[in-house]
Amino acid sequence: MPSKVESQIDSLREKLRYHSYQYYVLDDPDIPDAEYDRLYQQLLALETEHPELITTDSPTQRVGSTPLAAFDQIKHQMPMLSLDNVFSEEDLQAFYLRLQDRLAAEISSAEDIDFTAEPKLDGLAVSLRYENGELIYAATRGDGSTGENVTQNVRTLHSVPLRLLGNAFPQVLEVRGEVFMPKAGFEALNKIARANGDKEFVNPRNAAAGSLRQLDPGITAKRPLSLYCYSTGIVEGGTLADTQYGVLQQLKTFGLPVCAEIKCVTGVAECLAYYQHMAAQRDALPYDIDGIVYKVNKIKLQKKLGFVARAPRWAIAHKFPAQEEVSKILEVDFQVGRTGAITPVARLEPVFVGGVTVSNATLHNMDEIRRKDIRVGDRVIVRRAGDVIPEVVAVLPGSRTMPLPEIQMLEKCPVCQSAIEQIAGEAVARCPAGLFCRAQRAEAIKHFASRKAMDIDGLGDKLVEQLVAEKLIHTAADLYSLTIETLAALPRMGEKSAKNLIAALQKSKNPVLSRFVYALGIREVGETTALNLANAFASFEAIRDADYDSLIEVQDIGPVVAQHIVNYFRQPNNLQVIQQLFDAGIKIQLPQQTQQSAMASSAFLGKTIVITGTLPTLSREEAKQKLLAAGAKVTGSVSAKTDYLLAGDKAGSKLAKAEKLGVPVIDEAAMLRMLTSAD
Ligand code: IVH
Repeated sequence: MPSKVESQIDSLREKLRYHSYQYYVLDDPDIPDAEYDRLYQQLLALETEHPELITTDSPTQRVGSTPLAAFDQIKHQMPMLSLDNVFSEEDLQAFYLRLQDRLAAEISSAEDIDFTAEPKLDGLAVSLRYENGELIYAATRGDGSTGENVTQNVRTLHSVPLRLLGNAFPQVLEVRGEVFMPKAGFEALNKIARANGDKEFVNPRNAAAGSLRQLDPGITAKRPLSLYCYSTGIVEGGTLADTQYGVLQQLKTFGLPVCAEIKCVTGVAECLAYYQHMAAQRDALPYDIDGIVYKVNKIKLQKKLGFVARAPRWAIAHKFPAQEEVSKILEVDFQVGRTGAITPVARLEPVFVGGVTVSNATLHNMDEIRRKDIRVGDRVIVRRAGDVIPEVVAVLPGSRTMPLPEIQMLEKCPVCQSAIEQIAGEAVARCPAGLFCRAQRAEAIKHFASRKAMDIDGLGDKLVEQLVAEKLIHTAADLYSLTIETLAALPRMGEKSAKNLIAALQKSKNPVLSRFVYALGIREVGETTALNLANAFASFEAIRDADYDSLIEVQDIGPVVAQHIVNYFRQPNNLQVIQQLFDAGIKIQLPQQTQQSAMASSAFLGKTIVITGTLPTLSREEAKQKLLAAGAKVTGSVSAKTDYLLAGDKAGSKLAKAEKLGVPVIDEAAMLRMLTSAD
């Protein structure tokens, strides 16, 4: 007969396991974190009072053991296999034909084969052994037959149950899965490393591997690691479902985490559709994946197909184009940005990465170059993920065979020869010449003309550079004195494009206040800040004349931005260009009285909104403009501070996060209704 304390302890452990499961496995917490912590503290207090009642599978016992001298070896009772890869549709077709061939006796030729389609997680494989529901050990894959005993580290992962839920599990159950580090955790970890002057991890996979292979589990416990299970090893004393998909669903009911993106597909066409869908989602997923794994769904067919060498015949990995590749630094140049920031850029041996050929990559700034110890001639890892500018992430370890000189910052601006300034405590070096510097003039004009600023159609980057280089324009104001004749005489221009550009310039002459302020390109004044300024001051003159104290009163404007604004309007050069713009016929449209009152009563006034997915009629940019005009703040990521998530089709992780945090989700129709019902 268990004592009262024992049953109290049991009940707390059961509750904590259940809530961990809701949180980590179902991604659907049903109590606030604080409530979980309260239950945890209660259990901890009882266990401290009654240490004899502590069991190894108690939720309090994730971290406990002392550092190891070395990892033990564990022999896998059933080997941990790897996968064959395909890189193209044709190779996938060939794989499918081989399956049809080998399964000719089991399925009719007209019948399509069912698969699970699973994200190929980019982490490291582990095998977890449960006996009677209790986690006995966790081992790395190693060479496939023997791995390392990383039990005390894996126990620190909150998504790994120390005891399985329910009682329907087999007596012995080996589960295979991938330990990985979610992107957000990786970024946070590197931010801390940067702040401490420690070495950063190159990518989430290395970070996961480095974190799991710590001899001190206390360190692993602090690392944001997760696990998704994708198959099983030894199963004794019980049976599992007869399909891969069924098995995964079962694992989930045992409390084991399984990736929510896994789907059932039939035939090659559906495999490819899934591949395309996930490739499009790749950058938005909260974790790195490097391809898709297709697995024949029926276990009976898997058994029939068997293995070759170390890979199953019934599964294949369809890889995405690599986002990291190796190249060589040929040279380092320095580019001058709109605000004078000097950015070192590596010229590379061309390399195909992230789906395009890359021959330039940013090195960010000199601190980054020193930290990564990058030198001309080094072989380096180049990364291009999604639409992000390609960057050099690290020097390929051990690749430098001879001493190479350090990269030095220039002393003079490569464009205007002004002495470069390096402000103490700032990573970025700058050319202080402002609009005197041709590079900064060109960048300032590009920004002025860009879509979110004055939106001058047909004025591309190359054309601006050409106009500046040929001294046809010096400032944004000069754009408005360009003539059809001057433009038409430029190479690759022609009369028609010249006329279109003049018309576009004409059309841009009546900007709303916020766009005009944004177009000026004041340091750190982005769209939202420009809108806040417009809302707060209501006229251009008021913004121009505002002092520091009144600026920092404005929503989201801190001391640094306030000082940038004051400095900008103190520069006679800037005031002169602005005057020239007005002289050229720019007339700012002030928010009309009616609009202002609409904003004042808008449901979105002062609200923080995130937009995700594809909206039925508006582009995301259009929706954003409408929301901004209604006084909302539009941000990029969902947090507890988000008031609404505007979600369209194919909303991914942001929707999941909003639902998890209880952020109200609205669709386009609801947004439009809320916008119009303001008065
Ligand atoms: S199945 C017998 N499924 O990829 C099946 N592997 O290249 C063997 N991986 O070592 C593995 N996601 O580390 C499988 N959904 C997934 C996976 C996956 C990632 C990794 C795993 C494996 C490697 C093989």
